[in-house]
Amino acid sequence: MERILIRADYLLPGGENWDTIRDAELLIEGEVVSYLGTRREHPIGGVDRIIEGKNKLVMPGLINTHTHAAMTLFRGYADDLPLMNWLEQKIWPAEARLNKDDIYWGTMLAICEMIRGGTTCFADMYFHMGEVARACLESGIRASLAHGLIGIDGPQESEKSLQVSRELVSDWHGAGDGLITVMLGPHAPYTCPPQYLEKVMTVAGDLKVPIHIHLAETRGEVEECLNKWGKRPIELMDSIGLFANQVLAAHCVHLSEDEIEMLVKKQVSVAHNPGSNLKLGSGIAPLADLLEQGALVSLGTDGAASNNNLDMIEEMRLAAILAKGFRENPTVIPARDALKMATRNGARSLFLQDGLGMLRVGSPADLIILDLNKPHFHPFHDLCAHIVYAAAAADVEFVMVKGRILMEQRKLLTIDEEKVLQEANERAIRLTR
Ligand code: NI
Repeated sequence: MERILIRADYLLPGGENWDTIRDAELLIEGEVVSYLGTRREHPIGGVDRIIEGKNKLVMPGLINTHTHAAMTLFRGYADDLPLMNWLEQKIWPAEARLNKDDIYWGTMLAICEMIRGGTTCFADMYFHMGEVARACLESGIRASLAHGLIGIDGPQESEKSLQVSRELVSDWHGAGDGLITVMLGPHAPYTCPPQYLEKVMTVAGDLKVPIHIHLAETRGEVEECLNKWGKRPIELMDSIGLFANQVLAAHCVHLSEDEIEMLVKKQVSVAHNPGSNLKLGSGIAPLADLLEQGALVSLGTDGAASNNNLDMIEEMRLAAILAKGFRENPTVIPARDALKMATRNGARSLFLQDGLGMLRVGSPADLIILDLNKPHFHPFHDLCAHIVYAAAAADVEFVMVKGRILMEQRKLLTIDEEKVLQEANERAIRLTR
């Protein structure tokens, strides 16, 4: 078993309090953290590698709980359009041309970007998810994958895509010794009517996997839902018993008081996507209300066609400053809460193992190192505030997942990045021609 020792000037183990450990060392044995704390007087012996972290900060890897990775191929292809035009005239026709290889390379492009920005785990919902799983295993990034289910294309198609989901679970759930997990991915209430969702719930129950769904993203969705079913989206989901399953709900922008209470009571995980919600003009989610009432909220970037990057540091900053502006109150969502949403809450939102999303003895070694030797980190008044309000993705210089080093000195070690960029560019041109 390989033993890697990281010495760093600063360590943020994360979890609840985000206290800093100075002159820290952290020992990784195989896939897990086996020691962390202040540097011991007697040096730890018998290690295979020592990583020196002068002016460096070690912290848990970031967890992106909602994206559509291969949509990187459509980054910058269609912007500044009304949501329905964007989908119907641009995105859906281009998506119809996607083949398996496109998904693989588009996902690889996303993974390059995510690793470079300190993301060590992501939740994806898209198509040809076996290709996504393959890209994750090869690159070493952790992921929770869902095949996007649509329930309005006729009974045959609907049943077929449920079968694809069942196969995804049997082929990939737990693959890579737990690196990959699988969820069921009913797209949204407006593409999956209650009758169909009930089938999805049955399959999720049988296979014991969580559900990943878009909920209450736009005002239009809420109005349509009220017209069609006489209930708002969260109310409708509650009435059919969806929340008896483990559910990850992306967006939750337009919520009534009662719906917030339902999300809290039923322990639904909310993936907040401030960047996408802003850019698509969907609105601003009531983040402070959700957190104050005890909801479990994590952060997502959504796809690169609606953000347009997969930068979780930016997402932390947006979440914190938007909530302050929205409430006209600078005390809501302090930096430590934003960090917690992007790490520990992310792991909990994806129903992943204990100890993930923070650094403890026994935690999976999913961690990142930031280079603090840059003007925008000085002076060192408060490193948590610096990460949320001053840092950039490019400050991440080292990434480890499950004890495997994915990036060192900003060089990707598991991916041929040049090849990925070339493939992605060629494919994007074909898809959008
Ligand atoms: Ni989405």
